[in-house]
Amino acid sequence: MHVYGLVGNPVGHSLSPPMHEAAYETLGLDARYVTFEPEPSALADAIAGADALGIDGLNVTIPFKQDVLELVDPDPLADRIGAVNTIAFGDSASGDGSTSTDNTPKGYNTDAAGVTRAFERHDIDLDGSNAVVVGAGGAGRAAAFALADAGSSVHVANRTAAKAVDLANDVPGATGGGLDSLDRIRDATVLVNATSVGMEAPDETPVPAEYLHGDLAVLDAVYTPIETRLLREAADAGAVTIDGAWMLLLQGVEAFELWTGRDAPVEVMNAALRDRLT
Ligand code: ATR
Repeated sequence: MHVYGLVGNPVGHSLSPPMHEAAYETLGLDARYVTFEPEPSALADAIAGADALGIDGLNVTIPFKQDVLELVDPDPLADRIGAVNTIAFGDSASGDGSTSTDNTPKGYNTDAAGVTRAFERHDIDLDGSNAVVVGAGGAGRAAAFALADAGSSVHVANRTAAKAVDLANDVPGATGGGLDSLDRIRDATVLVNATSVGMEAPDETPVPAEYLHGDLAVLDAVYTPIETRLLREAADAGAVTIDGAWMLLLQGVEAFELWTGRDAPVEVMNAALRDRLT
């Protein structure tokens, strides 16, 4: 049997187990997906222990995505982002066909693919687009690199302006500023909310509605609630809206494909997720 899982703290309400197990069931894979909640001080032991026990792959979430970077051999994108959310152990299949030169677990960042695949899935061409990313934490970093690599010109706006400027310095061609630079959305075609604003707070939005318009495609990384105030106001302005379940789904699809080397049953995984979201 193959064992995959999620390492984070807390992970109690994660939707990844039903999403991945729906895929195993559909493809007839003998596999399980379980959650692990180590104390932060035990992270290195947990990763080494997972490896020793023959666990095939782990997703990594808050608060471990940065710390785990030092415990794995990160691929170039994860290294640039500075965060790993997917680990492949041992000889588990790698979707890119690469073979490791040693036994160090391989680290990936599939949040980036989650962003680009969410836009692709909605027929938005990122190449040559003008993108604003709100937020410069882990999700903002993944989104900024993903969009730039897909050919967007990226502006990062963050409450703490210095963090946006630091991130922009790492991303080719990007600019950064404080929330006063959100007016750049007026000229943008792509907008990503990578802050936590709106999470469990349906009346809050990171972006003044006056900046939203009909030439935008808006991805909100927040998925609780699934319909955020930002997405409601974006739809009212005539924008294409992409909810946070797409990003959650498609980062999971990317991890599934890295681990198993198989095409993920995306619609089944999508249904398993959406059944559990309101
Ligand atoms: P994640 O890994 O999910 O991105 P994070 O690293 O804690 O989480 O980042 C949270 C992001 O949400 C940051 O960009 C944060 O802004 P700061 O860098 O200024 O802290 C942003 N954020 C959180 N609460 C916010 C609020 N009330 N208004 C604006 N931005 C907020």
